[in-house]
Amino acid sequence: MPTRTIIEPFRIKSVEPIRWTTREQREELLRSANYNLFQLRADDVLIDLLTDSGTGAMSTRQWAALVEGDESYAGSRSFDRFRESVQDIFGYRHVIPTHQGRAAERILFSVMCKKGDIVPSNTHFDTTRANIEFVGAIAVDLVIPEGKQPSLLHQFKGNMDVEALDALLARAGKKVPLVMLTVTNNSGGGQPVSMENVRQVSAVCRKHRVPLYFDACRFAENAYFIKLREPAYATKTPKQIAQEMFRYGDGCTMSAKKDGMANIGGFLCTNEDGLAQQEKNLLILTEGYPTYGGLAGRDLEAVAVGIQEALQEDYLRYRIASTAYLGNHIAEHGVPIVQPPGGHAVYIDARAFLPQIPPSQFPAVALATELYLEGGVRCIEIGTLMFGSAAAMDLVRLAIPRRVYTQSHIDYVVEVILQVWKKRDQIRGLRLTYEAPFLRHFTAKLEPIQQAVAARMMPGN
Ligand code: F0G
Repeated sequence: MPTRTIIEPFRIKSVEPIRWTTREQREELLRSANYNLFQLRADDVLIDLLTDSGTGAMSTRQWAALVEGDESYAGSRSFDRFRESVQDIFGYRHVIPTHQGRAAERILFSVMCKKGDIVPSNTHFDTTRANIEFVGAIAVDLVIPEGKQPSLLHQFKGNMDVEALDALLARAGKKVPLVMLTVTNNSGGGQPVSMENVRQVSAVCRKHRVPLYFDACRFAENAYFIKLREPAYATKTPKQIAQEMFRYGDGCTMSAKKDGMANIGGFLCTNEDGLAQQEKNLLILTEGYPTYGGLAGRDLEAVAVGIQEALQEDYLRYRIASTAYLGNHIAEHGVPIVQPPGGHAVYIDARAFLPQIPPSQFPAVALATELYLEGGVRCIEIGTLMFGSAAAMDLVRLAIPRRVYTQSHIDYVVEVILQVWKKRDQIRGLRLTYEAPFLRHFTAKLEPIQQAVAARMMPGN
């Protein structure tokens, strides 16, 4: 880049107003949402960093492609374009469209896994884990030890522990129908996996004759990190890097709501004819005919264009720089984050931010609700509310939707976080008043612990 200023490599053609609220309004809105940010109306949020999934802005080319959508039930022209675009990057023989990532996961694990099987990954995303457990199999996370230490700097914290994988496959290889590799590693802080690690994982899988599948949601961001951080790839294009990476595997699941640059969509790929047949049969049962798989023809068109745009270097340079800018600016002021900043998100370590709040009082929920109160910014807790007492960390994830917010929006978010950082001593924990038997974070009701009110009323606070 000729200058240091990060600029968006696009012009804005269509705008959507966002709405200011007052602090008093937000206090009331938060109370009626029972301190659960999922329960807010999106219109009451100023900057929404809840997720980068399906929240991106489409390009003029994508909107133009929508009009070309062929809505034929079978043999749609849009499916041909979709398959060609996917195969150009991913290279796998069979491309099966699904309505989103978890539908691809459900079909893959229903066909490949049975009760008692083991599926290792660097770190499974929660829907992946849930779909594995749903068929009675066991999901195992084998990320390198560095990947579990928030403040530790490491270039490829998403890497799989290759020795641990080799040992597991030597011990229980017959029970492992496939190995997964999540790029980038969302649950581990949006951290990339190196090409060297992909190669080693692939070699171990081949040695034990176990297929390797990618959870490819953020494949383009991972490719760009490889270009930046692995010297042998500095002169390769992100597309060449992605193509090489996928050659080391046997298939993938994909949520096109992330690096597909689409608002809905996904796919499942495999090289194996027999598996593809079974997967398509299951697809027909629950998603739709194999040339649309639960999507409209126009959605297939948007994804066909989107996965190519996600690999454009100008876009990736801005994307990764903008996320790093947010992470580095708050870290410079002492805010503890998972280091280094991830591709799609910055993760704040809420246990270090709010040491006065024990995990049982949900420090990351307390921080997330405070960010909303302070500036109308919405983000997500990944910690004790989501995972129960099994949570190793309490994190607040600030996920950046693709091509949606400008640098000044990011500056605003930095300012809000730093204001909350200044008054961190006054923040108190919460307690649950309702929880569902599973996936409780979506519907939980909470209330601030009374001492919060008492503490604020004390002189000097
Ligand atoms: N795998 C990973 C790594 C993900 O991050 C997600 C979704 C999925 C699979 C499932 O895809 O939502 O299309 O069914 N992650 C979103 C998030 C929801 O906010 O991180 P999906």
